[in-house]
Amino acid sequence: MTTATSTAAARPAQTKTNEPLDLVYRQIRDLVYKTSGIYKAEEKLYLLADGCARRMKALGAHSPREYWDRLSVAPARDAELRNLLNEITIGETCLFRSQPQLDALRKVILPELVAEKTKQITKRVRIWSAGCSTGEEAYTLAMNMLEESELLLKGWTVEILATDLNDRSVEAAKAGIYGDYALRSTSEYFKRKYFSPVDEKKLQVRPEVKKLVTVSRLNLQDDSKMLFMKGMDLIFCCNVLIYFDAASKAKVVNHFFSNLNFGGYFFLGTSESLMNLNDKFHLIHFPGTIGYWKPSLKSGKL
Ligand SMILES: C[S@@+](CC[C@H](N)C(=O)[O-])C[C@H]1O[C@@H](n2cnc3c(N)ncnc32)[C@H](O)[C@@H]1O
Repeated sequence: MTTATSTAAARPAQTKTNEPLDLVYRQIRDLVYKTSGIYKAEEKLYLLADGCARRMKALGAHSPREYWDRLSVAPARDAELRNLLNEITIGETCLFRSQPQLDALRKVILPELVAEKTKQITKRVRIWSAGCSTGEEAYTLAMNMLEESELLLKGWTVEILATDLNDRSVEAAKAGIYGDYALRSTSEYFKRKYFSPVDEKKLQVRPEVKKLVTVSRLNLQDDSKMLFMKGMDLIFCCNVLIYFDAASKAKVVNHFFSNLNFGGYFFLGTSESLMNLNDKFHLIHFPGTIGYWKPSLKSGKL
């Protein structure tokens, strides 16, 4: 018989107590879903089993049932659940992942925003990279905002909030050190201007880029924390909602809608859309990409 820590293909059908193993993983799956919105469908349950296997090994737990006890019994359960979430989230990302979004930002949205806010005393743009993984999206936005700082954004304050559920990703994002894989779409111009070499293989974002970005842990399913994320001009939540089911997606998108200022924009990943999720946003077509707009009060389109 294979061990309890094996992957899906080799996953045994029963525990020692004759309890079907899938039942334990389904319990864990439901707990993960309730906490984070991440839903591992049947065909992806093996990914959860793999993550559990790594945690079981680290803890010396001998069976999935024993691991389930660690996940469900106070006082250690919250910390262990967090450890498990760190194992199972998928952080695939890179710098300059979507040039059409950056073009939309710089060519259309920022000029519009600056014109709209020009009479306000506080000249500030607030951007949220929600589900930022290791920070590449947030620093890409920061560099592009710096590119505008001499002209369009002269005299403006730029604040970029970068949040993620995964503790390890949050720490990596704070460090802002990247290798070839993360930098594969970054031009020599941006590398030279905004990065310093750490060693032969790695570059680190320069302090002036970091200064714009505040990184913290935030679970998008944590309603009480989401209520405090108000006043955003732009929200990027790219390639995150794909891991949620429809109910969790809809809940998070509703939060995004209320967190955005009137006239603000929301972006998803290139393969995602808000179809059947939210009808309050207006779909906007930009060259090569789409975005979602929260109508401004002046537009009369609310
Ligand atoms: C594929 S990465 C996307 C990174 C980046 N936004 C991009 O498009 O390149 C997905 C990220 O979503 C995060 N995530 C998943 N569920 C989350 C949740 N409930 N709250 C916050 N972040 C979450 C994961 O930890 C992971 O870093």
